[in-house]
Order: sequence, then C-alpha cells, then structure tokens
Amino acid sequence: MPVGTVGSVKAVHVSELKEDIGAQIILGNTYHLYLRPGLDILQQAGGLHRFNSWNKPMLTDSGGFQVFSLTENRKLSEEGAEFQSHIDGSRHFFTPEKAVDIQRIIGADIMMAFDECTPGDADYDYAKKSLDLTERWLDRCLARFRETECPYGHRQALFPIVQGCVYPDLRRRAAENVAAKGADGNAIGGLAVGEPTEKMYEMVELVNEILPKDKPRYLMGVGKPENILEAIERGVDMFDCIMPTRNGRNGQIFTKQGVMNMRNERWKNDFSPIEEDGASFVDTLYSKAYLRHLINVNEILGLQIASIHNLAFYIWLVQEARKHIIAGDFSEWKPMILQNVTRRL
Ligand code: GUN
Repeated sequence: MPVGTVGSVKAVHVSELKEDIGAQIILGNTYHLYLRPGLDILQQAGGLHRFNSWNKPMLTDSGGFQVFSLTENRKLSEEGAEFQSHIDGSRHFFTPEKAVDIQRIIGADIMMAFDECTPGDADYDYAKKSLDLTERWLDRCLARFRETECPYGHRQALFPIVQGCVYPDLRRRAAENVAAKGADGNAIGGLAVGEPTEKMYEMVELVNEILPKDKPRYLMGVGKPENILEAIERGVDMFDCIMPTRNGRNGQIFTKQGVMNMRNERWKNDFSPIEEDGASFVDTLYSKAYLRHLINVNEILGLQIASIHNLAFYIWLVQEARKHIIAGDFSEWKPMILQNVTRRL
C-alpha cells in the first residue's frame, strides 16, 4: 500500500497510482486526517474517497502509532491516549471508541484497531502490560465497530493488530486472541521498531502459524524490499511503507539492478534511462542525469518522478512475488532477485 498520510500519496496523482503504478489500495492516517482537514470537512465531503477522488480500497491506521511516535506530552491510561498535536500543540484525547468513530467518518474500507505499538526494546514486563492494554482496547474497538455503521453506506472492515514485542509467548498469546475474533483480516504490529531484523522474521513466522491463512495478514510499516520478500515467504499478504515515497523524495531509487543514490556524482552525465526495463513510464522518458539534476535543484518534478518510479518498482516486486508463489518457485526466485535489488549502484 502506497502511504497517503494526509489523504494524498505525496507528489502522485490518483490516475498515476491506478493506471501507471497499479496500486490496488492506499493508506491514510487517522491521526493526521483528524487534525487536518478535520472530521467536519471529511464528513461534508462525504468521506475521504470522495474528497481525494481515490475510488479504490483505502486503509486507515488507527492513530495509535502516530500518537506514540509524533506527539509530545502524551499520557496513556486505561481509557485512552491524551496527546498534544505536533502541529499547534493543542490537546486531544483518543480512545478505542473514538478511533473507530473517526475511521467511520473517514470511510476507509479497512479500519485498524487502536493499539499501543510496543517499542522494540521494551522489557518483558512493559511488553506484557502493553499487550494486556492493547487486548482490552481491541475488545472496545470491536464493540464500537459492531454498534456503528459506515455513514456512506459501504462496507468497512476492522483489522485487529497483534502486538507482544519480541517475546514468543506474548506474540503467541496475542495471535491466538486476535485469531479468535474472526475479523476479515489481521495485522502484525510492533515490528521494525528497533528490534533486530532476525527477531522480526522470527515473530512474523510464529504469528503467521496462528493467524488464519484464508484472511489477509498485514505486516504494518514494513519495509525494505528484502524485508518484504522475507515476510512474504513467512505468509504475509499486505504491507505499507513510506520508504518508496519518502526515500524517493530524498533521491534513493530502487531498481531491478540495485539501489541508486541520485545525489551521487556518478549519475551527473549518465544520460541512459532511469531504468531500461523499469515498471513505469518515467523510467524511459527521463534519464538518470536529468533526475539527478531535478533532485539536486529541488524541483517538484524530481519528487514526482522518484515517487512514481519507486512505487511502480515496489508494486512490480510484489506482483512478481505473487507470480512465483503461483508457479511454485518462490524460494528459488527470492535469493536471485534479492541479490540484484539490494545491490548498491
Ligand atoms: N504502523 C507500524 N507499526 C504499527 C503498529 O504496531 N500499530 C499501528 N497502529 N500502526 C503501526
């Protein structure tokens, strides 16, 4: 899922997302959308789909993660999370019920449960208390979800989130609890938040042995191409990450041959296409030298080209993964493709 935090995938039109990149679903953020443009505007617009003209599926994160990572002076209690806006310092209070209500108004096809994203270095006691709270919050989210409906008449799903930090017994318990809810899909959170990468893979594997295989399994906030392929091998179906867009805007370009830093002198007079057999129209329309120039002088077009290119690459990568799963040769294909795409050019 390309990330569209405040209701737009930065620098990319919805037509490009749909037609050139082939995105099937995008992600928005409850926290950001609640602060700006605010619920009043979203309601008047008839929901985010009508507001931003994206007429395909959309998922919203619940706000928990952003409240914990972006805000100051936050106070966590049984009831919810009190925080100060990162924009103007104003005070707000999110509860599990409120996170559902806001996501109803945004109108996302997939809403996320309100959770505490346990830091990757939390000790066992903290991780257990945090999971206890996330589980009680999940029940409150589900209760609110059952007693409300989408104000715009379409169906909305609510995905629970498995927490438990890097502790196998907590993860197992969390996955069993989540699986028992019978939701339309399930998410794995609290990973790629400072724990060693091997721990992340171990937790994904363990959790995916428990979560239902016939429902989508979504690994939140991951990741690099290698993390995505390793997680796919362990059963993950959905991802979101800011990497293709944010890193793209900073000049990092992912290709089938490896990763380029466009700020590097090396590309200064390289007039070859951005990527000869790339997945997007920008790849042969523009040269490496031109993209380097645009990024160096901070031209808006540079951000657009880099974002479109990287998103098309990520979508191509997961489409290829799907093809190889169906063909039954994913485990032979994975090391080959990884060797190429992780190379530094
Ligand atoms: N995004 C990345 N990780 C997480 C998580 O653990 N929880 C939520 N809500 N969002 C995330």
